[in-house]
Amino acid sequence: MAIILPDLPYAYDALEPYIDAETMHLHHDKHHQTYVNNANVALEKHPEIGEDLEALLADVESIPADIRQALINNGGGHLNHALFWELMTPEKTAPSAELAAAIDATFGSFEEFQAAFTAAATTRFGSGWAWLVVNKEGKLEVTSTANQDTPISEGKKPILGLDVWEHAYYVKYRNVRPDYIKAFFSVINWNKVDELYAAAK
Ligand SMILES: [Fe+2]
Repeated sequence: MAIILPDLPYAYDALEPYIDAETMHLHHDKHHQTYVNNANVALEKHPEIGEDLEALLADVESIPADIRQALINNGGGHLNHALFWELMTPEKTAPSAELAAAIDATFGSFEEFQAAFTAAATTRFGSGWAWLVVNKEGKLEVTSTANQDTPISEGKKPILGLDVWEHAYYVKYRNVRPDYIKAFFSVINWNKVDELYAAAK
């Protein structure tokens, strides 16, 4: 067995004009494929640890030292991207009443949540991700991580994530990351976020 690149759950051009087809091809077929390939190279060195990346990255100290950083980077890269594709949709969706209430209770309003998420995505220096997670206390929290680090390694369950590596937006948005972040909010698959929230809380 090996880690396999999942197909996109929609056509490459389905998220136009918010996320362009050329970006989706490069991002999925090249970048994500490379994380998959490199994760498999690392895993093949230690068949005894299995291939459950979520379990491995939840306890990074359990990963053999010689492949630990490779799995943090590439195993994390695979998990983050596999989730990211599912968190977007061309269909119009909205948070469930339960999630909307939790967002209001935590952040004050949906607009304040969006502002906090946007700030996390904008201020993440260099490459990384912005997240909405369920933390160890079962509460919603906006956070960000560097590189391909996953919140799973901090004991947090990601329910929404935005890739802010330049490869995610530079073809269309050039250096204007804030426009890409704004566009992302037009293609969020809230049905998937609801599902992850229900499972995580
Ligand atoms: Fe990416």
